[in-house]
Amino acid sequence: MSTSDRIQHAGAWLRERFPLEKLTFESLFQKKEVPVHHMSWGYYFGGLALFFFSIQLVTGLLLLFYYQPTVADAHASVELITLHVGGGALIRNLHTWSSSAMIFCVFAHLITAFAMKAFEKPREITWVSGVLLLLVTFGFGFTGYLLPWHQIAVNATKVGLQSIEEAGAYLPGALAGIPRQLKELIQGEAAVGQATLSRFYALHVVLLPLAIFAILGQHLFMVQIHGMSQGVEKPTGKSEKFFPIFALKDFSIWGMIFFVLFVVALCLPFEAFFSYPLFEPFDPQGSTPDGIKPEWYFFFVYYPLELLPFWLVMLLSTLAVGALLAVPWIFQGASRKTLRNMAFAATVYLVAMTVFGQQIYEFFKGAQP
Ligand code: HEM
Repeated sequence: MSTSDRIQHAGAWLRERFPLEKLTFESLFQKKEVPVHHMSWGYYFGGLALFFFSIQLVTGLLLLFYYQPTVADAHASVELITLHVGGGALIRNLHTWSSSAMIFCVFAHLITAFAMKAFEKPREITWVSGVLLLLVTFGFGFTGYLLPWHQIAVNATKVGLQSIEEAGAYLPGALAGIPRQLKELIQGEAAVGQATLSRFYALHVVLLPLAIFAILGQHLFMVQIHGMSQGVEKPTGKSEKFFPIFALKDFSIWGMIFFVLFVVALCLPFEAFFSYPLFEPFDPQGSTPDGIKPEWYFFFVYYPLELLPFWLVMLLSTLAVGALLAVPWIFQGASRKTLRNMAFAATVYLVAMTVFGQQIYEFFKGAQP
């Protein structure tokens, strides 16, 4: 193929992915339709993830009025918000519950988009930006966990950062030092301390929000110009208008979920699931208390890390991220039935590790000689 053929080919590829001629009011609003079939419920999760993200933005901005990102004051400022600022506990609870709900919806959205083969041409870039959104969402979770500067926050972050360094032991020659340098870059100093808190704070409130705005903007733009994918092998031929029918259904689901979230945030602090000493201010002189764990949405890698050789879990995780990015090309020819079965298997794994991870860990640990 000559160079000019290659350029033309690339131009045609891009034109198909970015059909800018569809950027008309008529095509984006009046004509947009959502297919109706037995998997239609899967179309709601992207919108739900977006809804929870908006709650994160609003509650996060409110928390910024009082939160202090210093080792000396972070814990006290979080206590001030919870105990003395009017509505502070509610805003904090909304932020924590909604972060978990957002991550749940992003997972569900990824799995249903996969099962419905929504990554198929011309939506490859929508899928790739989706995977980046998943990584950024994890980044929000990881960096946010440290900010209250209590025992579980600092110790769990230490464990997370330590696992980056451990990867060096499995790399050859000059590469062996890179994970340690990466850990120190994130950590900012020899041990988790003020520099780490400043970096995590900058990531959580500035860099990751900027990244998510850019990637989400692109993601939603692509969704708008391509419309919704057909979702099933044999389309029913039925569809409903996005405006106003689907949008109204979206809003009513958001309204009901907000009501539930509000009641839960009002009555049940997220922290009620942990024992109190884990929420005492971090003590740099003290020993690591029992019960240190990452957030529930990291259990699917945390428990395998506890059970299997470190290098194996790292290798599998790296391959999994690479494979996720390449899904549109790897599964180009796969039937939706195969994809649904794979999505089901992934869901069983995720639910089992998240809900029964501790029991699975104890079962296998007990069986080891
Ligand atoms: C912050 C996280 C995310 C937000 C807010 C978001 C938002 C949305 C929204 C509102 C839609 C349109 C409605 C729908 O199909 O559900 C959508 C579509 C889509 N998203 Fe996401 N998304 C996120 C993450 C992801 C992830 C992790 C993936 C997969 C790797 C992904 C892949 C897709 C695909 C392929 C579509 C097109 C669906 C179709 O045409 O049927 N998104 N996203």
